[in-house]
Amino acid sequence: MEKITISSKDKLGIYLEILPQIRAVVESESDMIANFANIAAILKEAFDNFLWVGFYLVKPDDSEHGSTLLLGPYQGPLACTRIMYGRGVCGTAWSRGETIIVPDVKLFPGHIACSSLSRSEIVIPIFAKGQIIGVLDIDSEELGAFDEVDAKYLTQIFTDYYFG
Ligand code: SME
Repeated sequence: MEKITISSKDKLGIYLEILPQIRAVVESESDMIANFANIAAILKEAFDNFLWVGFYLVKPDDSEHGSTLLLGPYQGPLACTRIMYGRGVCGTAWSRGETIIVPDVKLFPGHIACSSLSRSEIVIPIFAKGQIIGVLDIDSEELGAFDEVDAKYLTQIFTDYYFG
């Protein structure tokens, strides 16, 4: 596959179009980093209101940093490299093991502002064999850009299509 095709204008329609295309891309490749890079690219291209789309991956304890999320493949402006357990939206999604939707980042205590343009955010934990291996983080310049539709279909990428 060389390019993705999207004709829908609404969020649900876009997710329904891109999910099979994501599946087609990742099922022919077993390397997780390569697949996460393509997933970030497809999501960034599909949605005009996504400012930053990327992955933070759980990095086991080391003597220098402790247990952190380490920046993985992404599309968008420069981002912070490491996020501590329980810190920011990403570290909180990691510690709670659940998706977090932040309609207004200014109202989320401890939000880590990688870009001053970011107004709302969604973070989806990624599980493999019952363990969290990282998170998908998406930022938007729009307030309230994310809802349960995003949560449902973004989660499906990693259940049905990747680690299913
Ligand atoms: N806002 C995130 C940090 C990552 S950047 O948005 C790319 C957080 O609070 O965890």
